[in-house]
Amino acid sequence: MGLIASLDIGSEKMVMAVASQENGNYHLAGIKMIALQGVKDGVITDKAKIKSYIKYLLQELAKDKGIERINVSLSGAALRVSEHKVNVLLQRKSVKESDLARAENKCIESAVSREDELVDIIPVSYQIDRGAAIAHPVGATGRSLDVHYRVYLADGAYLMEVRKLFADCGIEEVEFFPPVRAYMEALEVYRTDKSFALIDMGAMHTTVVLWGEGMLKQEVVLPLGTRAIDTDIVKGFRIESVQTAKQMKHQYGIALRSMCKTEKVAIPEVKKQIEKRDLSKIIQCRMEELLEGAIYQLQQWRFNDAEKEILLTGGGSRLIGTDTLLAKLSGHKVRIAKVQGITSGNEEILSAPACLTVLGLLLCEHTEPEEDKGGIGNWLSGIFK
Ligand SMILES: Nc1ncnc2c1ncn2[C@@H]1O[C@H](COP(=O)(O)OP(=O)(O)OP(=O)(O)O)[C@@H](O)[C@H]1O
Ligand SMILES: [Mg+2]
Repeated sequence: MGLIASLDIGSEKMVMAVASQENGNYHLAGIKMIALQGVKDGVITDKAKIKSYIKYLLQELAKDKGIERINVSLSGAALRVSEHKVNVLLQRKSVKESDLARAENKCIESAVSREDELVDIIPVSYQIDRGAAIAHPVGATGRSLDVHYRVYLADGAYLMEVRKLFADCGIEEVEFFPPVRAYMEALEVYRTDKSFALIDMGAMHTTVVLWGEGMLKQEVVLPLGTRAIDTDIVKGFRIESVQTAKQMKHQYGIALRSMCKTEKVAIPEVKKQIEKRDLSKIIQCRMEELLEGAIYQLQQWRFNDAEKEILLTGGGSRLIGTDTLLAKLSGHKVRIAKVQGITSGNEEILSAPACLTVLGLLLCEHTEPEEDKGGIGNWLSGIFK
């Protein structure tokens, strides 16, 4: 069996993972992250640069072993998300898998134009005879089925260019997915009926997702991330460079001022010393704003039961005390998200906040919806059910 690779292109970093796969068991063979240039709002703007990054990552992770397939995340302006509702009549008065396939195909037909390529389609609710929303419709009796989908599209010509870029790096099979599909695979959403949420704190975005009954319920990408802290530090301490501010955030940053000891820290490259508590005060203000925005979304979705968990991920959540601050502000239990379904010699990597998307991507696969082909066999099975 060859290797499967995945690539997450974020706002600040590009991370590639490689895994071996045998009989559905995934074992992580390597993972590597590099700072990113040549991408603007999720869209590759400098192909030559990105190609050299990909070649470098492949050389580091796969050497001369072949990569069977690479799964790539699309986000920002490279991905368009829309919601659609379709209705199908139930031919056999109860819902069969093939009815779900028919609904999905109907939705794809109406949602995807000639210029688009379908990246993913995820059902968010089902209704039988316009009744209450249900999660597991197969076997339910009725005359008609409504399905509400989230549809993820990308520009077909752009994806062709990206495929060509990978072909130049020696990979012919490229599949694209939205980050939410990677989260769902990483967290094995289908295996639990529990309702839980995820907050992904990225550099430029804060993504909030809600699941329940094994299904995606809600998803929103807020256009503000933890890079904002860097500019706050620049202004707060009159520092010249954003890079220096970022370095201070990584080295000394704490999300909760009350967790800070009285201690002075030096601003790199400058002789000035500052109180660590003052740094933390600036950080906490912005972290509260980011987290309150996410909590507000969850409250709008009636995610109020304090027993329900919020999982935390994204590089921004690496700030010490982020989980405590979120628990304090939301009243919910908070846990760092950990990837399921992949083994690794280094267990810690499976809960590394900046790696959830790339690891979940390894597990993603596209499946075609299969409708009944009709014919005598199906007709008979309809009678003898
Ligand atoms: N050790 C650390 N301590 C504090 N913050 C960190 C640490 N490591 C990374 N970060 C911050 O995490 C953010 C990047 O997170 P992540 O890698 O998840 O973003 P991304 O996926 O590139 O961006 P986005 O999801 O917004 O497109 C940056 O603001 C970075 O400064
Ligand atoms: Mg990200």
